[in-house]
Amino acid sequence: MDLRAIAAAPSDSEREAVDALLGPAGEDAPVPAAEAAQRRTMLLPALHALQDRVGWVSPGGLGYVCRRLAVPPAEGFGVASFYALLSLSERPAAFAHVCDDIACQVAGADRLCMEVSRKLGPPARPQHRADPHPGGGSPPAHWARSPCLGLCDQAPAAMVTRAGVRPAEAAFGGASAASVLRALEGALPAPALPFIGGQGPRRLLARAGVADPSSLRDYLAHGGTAALRRALELGPAGVVREVGEAKLVGRGGAAFPTGRKWEAVARAAERPHYVVCNADESEPGTFKDRVLMECDPFAVLEAMTVAGLATGSERGYLYIRGEYPLALARLDQARGALRQAGLLGADVMGKGFAFDVELRRGAGAYICGEETALFNSVEGFRGEPRNKPPFPVQSGLFRKPTAVNNPETLVAALDILRDGAAAYASVGTAGSPGTKLFCVSGRVARPGVYEVPFGTRLDALLELAGGVPGGRRVQAVLLGGAAGTFLGPDELAVPLSFEDTRRIGASLGSGVVLVLDDEVALLPLLRRLAAFFRDESCGQCVPCRVGTVRQEELLARLAAGAPLGSVQAEAALLDELAQAMRDASICGLGQTASLAIQSALAKLRPLPEAKP
Ligand SMILES: Cc1cc2nc3c(=O)[nH]c(=O)nc-3n(C[C@H](O)[C@H](O)[C@H](O)COP(=O)(O)O)c2cc1C
Ligand code: SF4
Ligand code: FES
Repeated sequence: MDLRAIAAAPSDSEREAVDALLGPAGEDAPVPAAEAAQRRTMLLPALHALQDRVGWVSPGGLGYVCRRLAVPPAEGFGVASFYALLSLSERPAAFAHVCDDIACQVAGADRLCMEVSRKLGPPARPQHRADPHPGGGSPPAHWARSPCLGLCDQAPAAMVTRAGVRPAEAAFGGASAASVLRALEGALPAPALPFIGGQGPRRLLARAGVADPSSLRDYLAHGGTAALRRALELGPAGVVREVGEAKLVGRGGAAFPTGRKWEAVARAAERPHYVVCNADESEPGTFKDRVLMECDPFAVLEAMTVAGLATGSERGYLYIRGEYPLALARLDQARGALRQAGLLGADVMGKGFAFDVELRRGAGAYICGEETALFNSVEGFRGEPRNKPPFPVQSGLFRKPTAVNNPETLVAALDILRDGAAAYASVGTAGSPGTKLFCVSGRVARPGVYEVPFGTRLDALLELAGGVPGGRRVQAVLLGGAAGTFLGPDELAVPLSFEDTRRIGASLGSGVVLVLDDEVALLPLLRRLAAFFRDESCGQCVPCRVGTVRQEELLARLAAGAPLGSVQAEAALLDELAQAMRDASICGLGQTASLAIQSALAKLRPLPEAKP
């Protein structure tokens, strides 16, 4: 075997950036296995530290991180090359990511990318196709095309990162070639306020846009910590009972009952237990968790504390996607204020309950939203899903019992505890009590996050969003996300509840409602969805790795008007591919990668011949 250390040395600034995170370097000495595992959890933060300082992960920087963390260099390279936001090829200090995903495509992203290309040259190649010899190829690119940046309400969107001693980054909507250029030159735009709409009293977003997200005092003045107080009175079993009685169901896509999850972790004999808030939110079209975290960061942290109490956990991890700099900054600030006020830490509210939260920043990998991939990412491994069972409630983060929840699920639990399960269930449907956040984007007058009672009809939600502008008509709605379903104009009366959408073969998924009018060309959108799954497949299982490529090729043939046999034969082939991926993939990505495309081919008119 040819095991080699990385020979290149780090630059002074790379060394400084890593030491600032990990502390001064000591003598190189063998590291016991338990300590190596512990150190390894800092691998992703250390790679971020390098890239934040110099704009990329150079061989010298990577080698230094691997030495400091006792990670074999080959494995360090494997991790660094896994994430789209980390670059192993040299990049300038200022770099732009321009979204060309579905909602932005509908808003003219292709034109934007062409204009950016004219000004800045061609985009960077994807990591896995990058020149393996940095400096040996073409000059470094200044920008890259990006999957959804979670700003679909403000499409088209872009994100600019500036490396240095004081790194800065901003994601912004309404992007133009000029605003991208200005941001690269140093003028990062101020964040825009999200549009928040809905019907009935706001519960999940009661404080959004009302209370100052940087002020704990304001949070307390608007009902903050009432739920935690009640939770401490009820005790862990009481909290689990209340959440179970409210029939709270997870909002991250899998619709699992939260009370059952918390109870399973609380009962697990193995210790310690963990709470994980899954704020990876990388499903194209989804941005509700961003709005929650940006507008009400204290609530997300309070809710994690309640979950910690319920499940007997002393530590929580909040894993937030790397493309949410504003949300991360606000959570960090809120965490500091909560610690200072004794609302997080060794003795929460003086009740003898210890709980604290670690913030972890993802680095551009949709698959890290899959709960077990997320654990691997936090632990310093490639974000590849694990086989289930064992389920996270038995063996999760660090192989310990873990409750993973979406931010919206957690904040809904606050509502339940504050007002009681009965009050919570006074809106919504019997099977889906409470309210739900929807991410409305595409061709509507007022894109934004909408909070409505479960059971609100889809056409009523579209009306709240101002309907389709310009007198055009709805061609289709993508419901649930990239792994969701296209609904035709005759399906818009569906009530938005778990049970009603299931009845028509759809799902609420991550709450995506992407509206397409009759002007939007469907086939390019389907090709973008296929490219997304091909790109984001972690490649572990053959059916998903190969199937997502074949699916994309199939759509390319259809787009070229050159189907293999006939369009019907291609649709049958897609069904076969989908079946293989559903049956033999180990995680939800492969299992759902064809759903939306199949639904479009079956009921819409992506191309003239596709109509039965
Ligand atoms: C490919 C993939 C991506 C996912 N991304 C997310 C995500 O970004 N956020 C999330 O909460 N759940 C995501 N999930 C679902 C999680 O695995 C998990 O079910 C969820 O976080 C549990 O929280 P909940 O019970 O509150 O819904 C994803 C699942 C898959 C298969
Ligand atoms: S289904 Fe796809 S994404 Fe999921 S583990 Fe397998 S290869 Fe990776
Ligand atoms: S931000 Fe571009 S599709 Fe979501």
